[in-house]
Amino acid sequence: MVHPKVAVIGGSGVYKQAFIENEREIKVETRFGASVLKQGLYRGRTVFFMARHGGGHTVPPHLVNYRANIAALKKLEVDAVIATAAVGSLRRDMGPGSRVIIDQFIDFTKQRPLTFYEGKEGFVVHTDFSEPYCPNTRAAILRAGRALGQHMVDGGCYICTEGPRFETPAEINMFMNWGVDVVGMTNVPEVVLAREAGLCYGTIALPTNFAAGVSAKPLNQDEVLEAMDTDKLELEKLLAASIAEIKTDASCRCRDAGNNYPKE
Ligand code: HPA
Repeated sequence: MVHPKVAVIGGSGVYKQAFIENEREIKVETRFGASVLKQGLYRGRTVFFMARHGGGHTVPPHLVNYRANIAALKKLEVDAVIATAAVGSLRRDMGPGSRVIIDQFIDFTKQRPLTFYEGKEGFVVHTDFSEPYCPNTRAAILRAGRALGQHMVDGGCYICTEGPRFETPAEINMFMNWGVDVVGMTNVPEVVLAREAGLCYGTIALPTNFAAGVSAKPLNQDEVLEAMDTDKLELEKLLAASIAEIKTDASCRCRDAGNNYPKE
């Protein structure tokens, strides 16, 4: 059996995965700049690990080079991406420790390059987002997490804010009225670019705090990183098990979405 090539994009607090063997750093040059990531093996499969904010958490959400990152994974012939995203929760029943396998997003970003297609192709590309996250990747993560007995939530709406500031209670109140479950700063444009490139892509949203106004306390970044640190070993188990659950599925519709993606 040919194993799919899986990449993990680790968000805040996720910088290294101990289950990856024979790990080495690689640098991939793309037309958007270089992307540095790790390549290794897990149970005989090639796996990649990319720290979205850099190894030392130095790149803020609005300055991540999302296009270079996804273009690099495409160049490496990755089939499926599992992303982690620290989020604030708008829902009392989705607190820290939950894994929300989001199935919808709302784009509330303001100034990020959002697409690979900027008109240079000689044609306009509008990509379908009726099903924003890969159903096969989501199902694999849910199976893996349930088998481990983790608190898995099947579906949720993520709103991506521009950051790097946290939200105001008025914004969170409005987002609640829009049906949002969790708020973060990085899933857009990552999910968009992954689909444009024809990659299967799923996100594990990890509530680290209740959003502004939901919690009476002021928010701070240390709280986010501490919550991620507490959860580190359980999350690592979930990531490893999810990779093992992902099957090659050449019929996945995510692949067709990449038909216009230019060859590097
Ligand atoms: N808002 C936005 N992003 C976040 C939050 C939040 O409350 N917590 C962790 N990432």
